[in-house]
Amino acid sequence: MITASWIPLVPSVLIENGEVEQFLVEDHDVAVWRSSQGHVQIWQNRCPHRSVRLSLGHVQGESLVCAYHGWQFAAEDGHCQRIPAQPEQRAPKTLCATAYAVKETDGMIWYGGQVAPQQTWIMNTQAQVYAGSVTVSATLPQVQDYLMELGLSELGEQSSGLVWRGYASDAGLRIYLTPTQSSVVTVHAMLVQHERASTRHALLNQMRQYLEQEQLSHV
Ligand code: FES
Repeated sequence: MITASWIPLVPSVLIENGEVEQFLVEDHDVAVWRSSQGHVQIWQNRCPHRSVRLSLGHVQGESLVCAYHGWQFAAEDGHCQRIPAQPEQRAPKTLCATAYAVKETDGMIWYGGQVAPQQTWIMNTQAQVYAGSVTVSATLPQVQDYLMELGLSELGEQSSGLVWRGYASDAGLRIYLTPTQSSVVTVHAMLVQHERASTRHALLNQMRQYLEQEQLSHV
């Protein structure tokens, strides 16, 4: 799958070292995992052996181990390092999990598809604190329209309409949008670091109410 722009997929704090989770991005099933040393990976959520979801497996050091037959795939390029049933044999070099372009910045993990998008924009230099996420049944343009009504604006043309900035209750706000399915969007909220936790929760509730008022139902 080739995407024209980096897509914010999940807040960094939700994937700790040694964790693997399943996510959808543009109807595509992916496994997001972080190695023991903290390197984050986004892979097609499908084992090259028998297509079992890799998100059911577990992290072992710098590799991901499939839950079914225990094949072990290395971080970075996804090549198979070990087949437990054939411990003496080397797996062919072509035997790989499908790894996607990934980067981690601004407190988010970004998905880039099979070929890293040639896209640059000025990233936020302020420290941000993750405030929460809301998943709504709505198209991306519907959510973008509503953010505009709230007085938020796109971070820049290069953000592809997936990063928004503004203020809510006088607090600096960054919104990251993940198009998970054709009519489902996950909205991630970040606040500048000096905001207190109580303020953060109030802001997220406020946003949730706004979205509900628009009759966008939660999924
Ligand atoms: S299905 Fe993954 S190792 Fe067999």
